[in-house]
Amino acid sequence: MPAFPSQHPSSATAVEGRRPRKGDVVDCVIERMDARGRGIANLAGVDQAGESWRATVALRAGTPGATVRVRLLRGKGRRRFQGAVLEVLDEGPDAVPARCPHAGVCGGCAQPRLGYARQLVEKRRLVVEALDAAFGGAPPAGVEIAAVEAAPRLSGYRNKMDFTFGARRYVLPDEPDGVDASFGLGLHAPGLFQKVLDVEHCDIAFEGASELVRSARELALEMGLAPWDLRDHTGLLRHLVVRRGEHTGELMVDLVTSERAQELIDPYAAQLLERHPEVTTLVQNVTSAKATVAYGESEHVLHGPGRIHDEIGGVRFTISADSFFQTNTGQAERLFELAAEAAGLEEGDTLLDLYCGAGTAGLVMGAAAREIVGLEQAPSAVRDARQNAEYAGVRHARYIEGDVLETLPALLEGADALDPARTVCVVDPPRAGLHPKVPGPLAAFGARRIVYVSCNPASGARDVAALVEGGYVLRAVRPIDLFPHTPHVEVVFTLERAEASS
Ligand SMILES: C[S@@+](CC[C@H](N)C(=O)[O-])C[C@H]1O[C@@H](n2cnc3c(N)ncnc32)[C@H](O)[C@@H]1O
Repeated sequence: MPAFPSQHPSSATAVEGRRPRKGDVVDCVIERMDARGRGIANLAGVDQAGESWRATVALRAGTPGATVRVRLLRGKGRRRFQGAVLEVLDEGPDAVPARCPHAGVCGGCAQPRLGYARQLVEKRRLVVEALDAAFGGAPPAGVEIAAVEAAPRLSGYRNKMDFTFGARRYVLPDEPDGVDASFGLGLHAPGLFQKVLDVEHCDIAFEGASELVRSARELALEMGLAPWDLRDHTGLLRHLVVRRGEHTGELMVDLVTSERAQELIDPYAAQLLERHPEVTTLVQNVTSAKATVAYGESEHVLHGPGRIHDEIGGVRFTISADSFFQTNTGQAERLFELAAEAAGLEEGDTLLDLYCGAGTAGLVMGAAAREIVGLEQAPSAVRDARQNAEYAGVRHARYIEGDVLETLPALLEGADALDPARTVCVVDPPRAGLHPKVPGPLAAFGARRIVYVSCNPASGARDVAALVEGGYVLRAVRPIDLFPHTPHVEVVFTLERAEASS
C-alpha cells in the first residue's frame, strides 16, 4: 500500500482526515505503468465522515516500484490526479541507471530507468487490462495471455528516427538564465509540444543517427537556416528523418521543410553529404501544413535513388521516405514469425493482408499461399509493395489501393470473391485500430483464421472482441516487445472461425 498520508510530515501537506486536493503534497509508491508510460500510484484513506476513499495519481517519469514525494496537479474529479514528482525517496527494486543522457527530460522513452524485466511485466499488464476492459471483465475462458517476448537489443534498435527542428528549444534546468533557445533539433520534451529538446545522443536510434543529428544542427546554425516555429508556423526546417536498412546499411536522410527554398536547401544538403558520405540517399519533402507531419506535399530527391532497402525474413524491401516500414527490423522478423505460426497457412490458401503497408507481412509469411491480396491506403506504400513483390519474385501478389473500409467490402463481394474456408487474413492496422464498420463485414466474410497484429492493446482488444462477437474464437494472445523503454507492445491475436475450431 502507498505511504499516505506522508511519512515525511516535514514537507507533506496535512491531508489526514480529508480527501486529497490539487496542490497537496503526498508520498506514495508507484505501482504500475499506464498505456502512456506514466507511473501510477494508488492513494487511499478515510475522510472526515469516516468514509473510505481511493484515488490515483499519474506521474510522468515515474518509475514503477519507486517511492516518491509528489505534488497533486489537476485531476479528473476527485479520484484521478496528475502529479509532479518532487523527490524520489526510494528508487525501488526495479530501477536501473538510465542509458541515456536525456533520460527524464526527453519524451522519446517514457521509462528509461525501469529495469527491463519489470518493463515486460508492465507491458503484459497493459495487454491483460485491455482484454479485461474489452471483454467486460475477463477475456474468454481458456485463452492464455503469454508473457511478453523480450527484445534482444535494448539500445540502437530503431532503424528510423524522426527528429524535429524547433524555434523554441527546451532549456535545461542547469542552463544559465538568458541562454539562446531559438534553435533546437531533437525530440519533444514530455508534454511540451512546442518545445524541442536538443538531442546529442539517442540511445534507441541506430548507430550513426546521433552523429547525423549533431551535424544537421551545426550546419543549420552555421548557415543561418531558420527552424520551424511550432506555435507561429514560420521557419524553414521542420524535420530530420533518418532511416537505415539494418541488413543493407543503406542510409536515408529525409529533410522536411516548409518550402522548397532550393538556394538554401541544396547547399545545406551538399554540406551534410560531404560530412556524411555514408548517406546513400537524401530527399527533401516539402510540407506547408501546420500539423507536425513528417512527410510532404512534394518530394525532391537531392542525392541517390530516393529509396533504401532492408530485409525481413529473407525478403528484400524497398522503403521510400513516406512509406511505413517496421522500425525495429530484428524484432519485426520475430513478430512475423509469430504471425506466420498463428496463420497456419496451408497450400492453396489465399492470404488477405489488410493494412499491408509495403507488403511486409504478406510477403514474409505468404510463400505457401496461392495468392496474396494486400489492401493499403497510402499510394507510395502500394507502389513499394508492388515493387517488393516483384523483387522478391512473388508473382502471386496483388495490391489494392484505398481505404479498407471501402476496398474490403468491394473485394469480398466482387465477382472474383474469395473462398472464406481457404482464406487466412492478417490484419495490421495503425494504432487507432479498425474503423468500427470494418469488423462486421470482416467477420461476416468468415475467413478461416484472422491473425490480428496490434500495436495498441486497447484498440486491438476492442477489435478482437468485435470479431468474437461476429463469430470468431480467440485462440491465442502473444505479446512481443519491439520498443524497449516505451509503453508500446505489439500483440499477435489468433482468431479462428467458430465452426472451424469446434
Ligand atoms: C501498422 S502499419 C502496417 C504495415 C505493414 N503490415 C507492415 O508491417 O509493414 C499500418 C498501415 O495501414 C495503412 N492504413 C492506415 N489506415 C488505412 C485505411 N483506412 N485503409 C487502408 N490502409 C490504411 C497505413 O498507411 C500503414 O501502411
